[in-house]
Amino acid sequence: MRRATRWPRAPSCFGSRTRPDRSRPARKTASDVDRGRLGNNCGMRIAVCLTEQKAEPWLEGLRAALPGAEVSAWVPGAAPADHAVVWAPPQAFIDEQPALQTLFNIGAGVDALIKLRLPPSLTVVRLDDAGMAVQMAEYVCHALIRHFREFDGYEADTAQGRWSFRKPRARSEFPVGILGMGVLGRRVAQAVAGFEFPVHGWSRTPQQVPGVRGYAGDAQLPQFLAATRVLVCLLPLTPATTDILRHETLSQLQPGGYVINVARGAHLVDADLLALLDSGHLAGATLDVFRTEPLPADHPFWQHPKITVTPHTSARTLRDESIAQIAGKIRALQRGEPIAGVVDPARGY
Ligand SMILES: NC(=O)c1ccc[n+]([C@@H]2O[C@H](COP(=O)([O-])OP(=O)(O)OC[C@H]3O[C@@H](n4cnc5c(N)ncnc54)[C@H](OP(=O)(O)O)[C@@H]3O)[C@@H](O)[C@H]2O)c1
Repeated sequence: MRRATRWPRAPSCFGSRTRPDRSRPARKTASDVDRGRLGNNCGMRIAVCLTEQKAEPWLEGLRAALPGAEVSAWVPGAAPADHAVVWAPPQAFIDEQPALQTLFNIGAGVDALIKLRLPPSLTVVRLDDAGMAVQMAEYVCHALIRHFREFDGYEADTAQGRWSFRKPRARSEFPVGILGMGVLGRRVAQAVAGFEFPVHGWSRTPQQVPGVRGYAGDAQLPQFLAATRVLVCLLPLTPATTDILRHETLSQLQPGGYVINVARGAHLVDADLLALLDSGHLAGATLDVFRTEPLPADHPFWQHPKITVTPHTSARTLRDESIAQIAGKIRALQRGEPIAGVVDPARGY
């Protein structure tokens, strides 16, 4: 299990962290309840703070998954919670919740979250796949194969009633390089390798992935880029990776290079991509993420003939899977067990 951590102190259901709920009838005593069903969660408070998302289905799902826990949508002045389930929470939420132990982000990327002022004692946990990796694999394979097999060209031809063949291309001439060999990058690499493309992977620390030639660190980035024709970005957005898709790096791709950015818009320097497409060094790009979202109506990416735009949809958060994962992690923390997906604030992901 990658990046597992051990909970420093298992909160005791009947210990000092238990908060009596005076608004409800007296809680049953430990001897009255089935500890396996209710006991582990009794007295636990979970705050849900989601912007641009409906809270109600999350509240219902979490209540069902963690019976005995008090799960409520955060409002200013709400009682202190032990754990929180969040998406883009305001700073006021963090400031008002000093007792929070764990912040569960309902996405894999935590770049926006860790820009907030977070107390050092707060553990940030990102979603760990939860159904996103297979979606990402679908998206990347679709973009890769659409380009490699020239299905975009066939679409244009058939739209004009033209029955025309294109010369088959050798997949050995379309090596795929994946920036970021984490939870999503590994799954994408596995899917791409299944279509028999040569696959290269770049990470911060060396990673062994079957069927993938690995490169690590800044020193090996030039080698990785020189070996790559189709570049997939699956890096977290950190100070070290911001603007990583820029003229200096993209110009090191093999001629006829293709860019698939499914990570964050700020990885890409938009003007540099446009210049390399217009010079002919790059053949095209499929972009799911943008510096400003929604992509502004007058942005040149919309109309560019070599760019395919999708609205940040490559790997959506799946609610049921996410709730099951978060509830499982809360139960593991209560048992004092390690969990995966803990963010290292110093590293930024
Ligand atoms: N478009 C969408 O719908 C969507 C959906 C979900 C996620 N995302 C994006 O996808 C990103 C990746 O998700 P994930 O779950 O795969 O993340 P992850 O498991 O944390 O993996 C991150 C990978 O990037 C590598 N990395 C980080 N900083 C690096 C650096 N400076 N140099 C080289 N490699 C570096 C890591 O190297 P190590 O292995 O050495 O740690 C790791 O292999 C998220 O952060 C998010 O931005 C997008």
